[in-house]
Amino acid sequence: MRLAVIAGDGIGPEVVAEGLKVLRSVAPDLETTDYDLGATRWQRTGELLPDSVLDELRGHDAILLGAIGDPGVPPGILERGLLLRLRFELDHHVNLRPAKLYDGVRSPLADPGSIDMLCVREGTEGPYVGNGGVLRRDTPHEIATEVSLNTAFGVQRVVRYAFERAQARPRRHLTLIHKTNVLTHAGSLWSRTVEEVAAEFPEVTVAYQHVDAASMFFITDPGRYDVIVTDNLFGDIVTDVAAAVTGGIGLAASGNLDASGTNPSMFEPVHGSAPDIAGQGIADPTATVLSVGLLLDHLGSADLARKVNAAVAFDLSTRDPQAQVRTAEVGDRLAALA
Ligand code: NAI
Ligand code: MG
Repeated sequence: MRLAVIAGDGIGPEVVAEGLKVLRSVAPDLETTDYDLGATRWQRTGELLPDSVLDELRGHDAILLGAIGDPGVPPGILERGLLLRLRFELDHHVNLRPAKLYDGVRSPLADPGSIDMLCVREGTEGPYVGNGGVLRRDTPHEIATEVSLNTAFGVQRVVRYAFERAQARPRRHLTLIHKTNVLTHAGSLWSRTVEEVAAEFPEVTVAYQHVDAASMFFITDPGRYDVIVTDNLFGDIVTDVAAAVTGGIGLAASGNLDASGTNPSMFEPVHGSAPDIAGQGIADPTATVLSVGLLLDHLGSADLARKVNAAVAFDLSTRDPQAQVRTAEVGDRLAALA
């Protein structure tokens, strides 16, 4: 396995070191290449993602990313120039975010029940494509547009991916989340696509919810969800709610997938660079380790992915909830367990 590693800023390098520790313990023949990208590089050289680096990244089987960001960088620069650019250039059309409430993890919900959902968020379209502009800026007549782009091709491939995942899970249930009653143009494309693709998956039951109603059910009855499919913006928001109810940012893993396999997929914890705790050795590396599990699964090593997930499940069920997390100790435990 040839893995490109973008450790990034803040706690990024701290959690990535532990992710690699666990990955090496199950896949010793791993070859890694480190890429220095992020706030530190931008501040030093003004570079975000040189084309030559992008070309090199394409030559790897997968990418592991820590976190990118620093309070000293104006908002938007790293997001558009690096994080979103990676996703668009490498055609990461599936943003995969599992949300499972592990035994031993405290949910902020009084009665969470059993939560085990897989959110499939579209990653290359919607309102995030930068299709818009500003006229008459800084005048009372300023006009700002941010047009949501939805293509039949783009919706179909992510919906089909979600059905495939639902088909492979015990409950075989898929929920489309959108706002079809108000966003009627895009909503109709999404609904019709789900209906069409559903015909290919007769064993998968399908539900639909408006995003506002779904936001309530994520809090009041999250156990009802199995696989969720939704657009880029709604997915960004509801996946954070899903993370919150299943134990929070230290546990939330994600994959940015080119499901066609043409480009390397990228795996990263959902959290950012956490400048408030960087350098203290107290960041929880579990989200990164779970992202490594997603990486293994994506590359066809489902048995190794299961080992990593089982190690995390065991560790979480036996952790002292009062004790301060020590990044390297969690990594050592998980590497030994896996
Ligand atoms: P954040 O996720 O970095 O931190 C939010 C809170 O969660 C902080 O209190 C932090 O200490 C805590 N936290 C985060 N990860 C943790 C972990 N593994 N273990 C324990 N506690 C953890 O979000 P914030 O503060 O909004 O952003 C900080 C920087 O990260 C910003 O520059 C932002 O742009 C960037 N960012 C980067 C992302 C990425 O690389 N994909 C995603 C989100 C934010
Ligand atoms: Mg987000």
